[in-house]
Amino acid sequence: MIIALASDHGGFALKEQIKAHLAGRGFDVTDLGTNSEESVDYPAFGKACGEEVASGKADLGIVCCGTGIGISIAANKVKGVRCGLCTSVEMATLTKQHNNANILALGGRTTAPELAMEIVDAWLDTEFEGGRHQRRVDMLDNM
Ligand code: RB5
Repeated sequence: MIIALASDHGGFALKEQIKAHLAGRGFDVTDLGTNSEESVDYPAFGKACGEEVASGKADLGIVCCGTGIGISIAANKVKGVRCGLCTSVEMATLTKQHNNANILALGGRTTAPELAMEIVDAWLDTEFEGGRHQRRVDMLDNM
């Protein structure tokens, strides 16, 4: 299982913590940057992570910016990406069960690191439910 990570400066610190957390859980991580708190443009990093997942180079992705909003919008512009911005464990569980989100977005300035790791774990450890949700996911993928 390869997980791609990307952030802008606002999500950099959280990305680094997630990277360590994932390594501790035994996942392979592809870090697409950014690599410091110097200001960068989140659309480029959301696009990079989206393309890494949509192309199959990574199985899943996690993106972080200040709020998680901008970088999730960018990732969702890539066909085949279903990126869910989550601020709770319940949202993380549901975005896998119902949306089969292949990228998780988090806000480095809006979600505390401890909660962010719980959200990451819930999303990774939850299975897609399929059934009626498959039809809706297919509709998303065909847009
Ligand atoms: C950067 O200042 C900030 O706008 C960005 O990290 C993000 O929150 C955008 O949605």
